Amino acid sequence: MKGRRPRPLDDGDQRSKGIGQRLSYQKKFKWDDTGMKIFQNFKGDQITQAAQVLIMGNLVAFPTETVYGLGADATNPSAVSRVYAAKGRPKDHPLIVHISTVNHMSLWASEIPGYAFELAARFWPGPMTLILPRSGLAKNFITGNQNNVGLRVPANPIALKLLSRFEEFGGFGIAAPSANRFGAVSPTSADDVVEEIGQHLNENDVIIDGDRCQIGLESTIIDCTGSHPQILRPGFLTKTVIEDSIKTRISLKISTIKHSGKLKKHYSPRAKVSINKIPCPGEGLIALSNFSTPHKVVRLISPDTNDEFANQLYFALRQGDHLGLKRICVYLPDDNNIGSAIIDRVSKAASCD
Ligand code: TXA
Ligand code: MG
Repeated sequence: MKGRRPRPLDDGDQRSKGIGQRLSYQKKFKWDDTGMKIFQNFKGDQITQAAQVLIMGNLVAFPTETVYGLGADATNPSAVSRVYAAKGRPKDHPLIVHISTVNHMSLWASEIPGYAFELAARFWPGPMTLILPRSGLAKNFITGNQNNVGLRVPANPIALKLLSRFEEFGGFGIAAPSANRFGAVSPTSADDVVEEIGQHLNENDVIIDGDRCQIGLESTIIDCTGSHPQILRPGFLTKTVIEDSIKTRISLKISTIKHSGKLKKHYSPRAKVSINKIPCPGEGLIALSNFSTPHKVVRLISPDTNDEFANQLYFALRQGDHLGLKRICVYLPDDNNIGSAIIDRVSKAASCD
């Protein structure tokens, strides 16, 4: 799960003022081939401090293995309302509640179907969000007035440690959408978080710098409110992987659940995004490395695999904006593995509505 990526071009003074404290870590991640184990090396005391910041009702942006999240105490309405304000997100778009262990599922959810327990046991901690009937703890200000709640146990060791500390201090879960402005590209590094929402944070908030996210695209969201699971948002965990590991088939019926990933336009940079079009001189290109670059076109990334493509995609879209490109042409990869999630995100970024 490695990705080659140059430093962002614009790493300048946006960090200096009004952006909360920055905590840095010396870490070593290793993404195991089986998918779900990460080895860690970071300073626990700063995570304790960040957990206290959350308990006090302030915000903490933190890395997950998918993208960075903007966290708040999921039982604190004023903290959660600051998340909506920082993102500029409409209040009826629900937030995912992050918990430290599968054992806490039933704090937030009720009438959990057997297949959801199977999914959780198999894929948590990991890049999967389950939508479940809510318990009394999941109030309207989290669920966007729906009767369902989104739950995830992230695999990133910093996120997990933050959750455990937060729960030790009496917290129940951290509400965390991706730490970007509504409709914009999700952040995959602390620099991206600063760029997106830094000016909406204050000195009591914290950004945990946990390096780049390993996957780089948001979690697979699975609707578990019916007799069969349905995928609402594709991600690293694909239909095939999920079906191979549990006994239930994934339903192909289109879910009626409302979620912002269903919006036609999302994940969008300022540049216009075109799919499978030849770029003109001065325009940007995102494609697998076996695509050659036309004369005077700005090559943003050249990933060798779909995993690398996913890992570098959001960086490349941001890079295009930093360079002031008017248009970025993306050549879609095949839909193998994380390919279907890439196609989903690029298609939404390219939508003109
Ligand atoms: O990988 C991820 O899922 C990241 C990291 C930070 O965990 N989070 C993330 O959150 O992508 P967000 O809010 O940017 O996208 C979550 C999606 C939204 O489309 C939201 O509408 C949907 O999940 N969602 C959350 N709770 C829901 C619920 N109760 N019912 C239906 N959809 C829900
Ligand atoms: Mg998002």
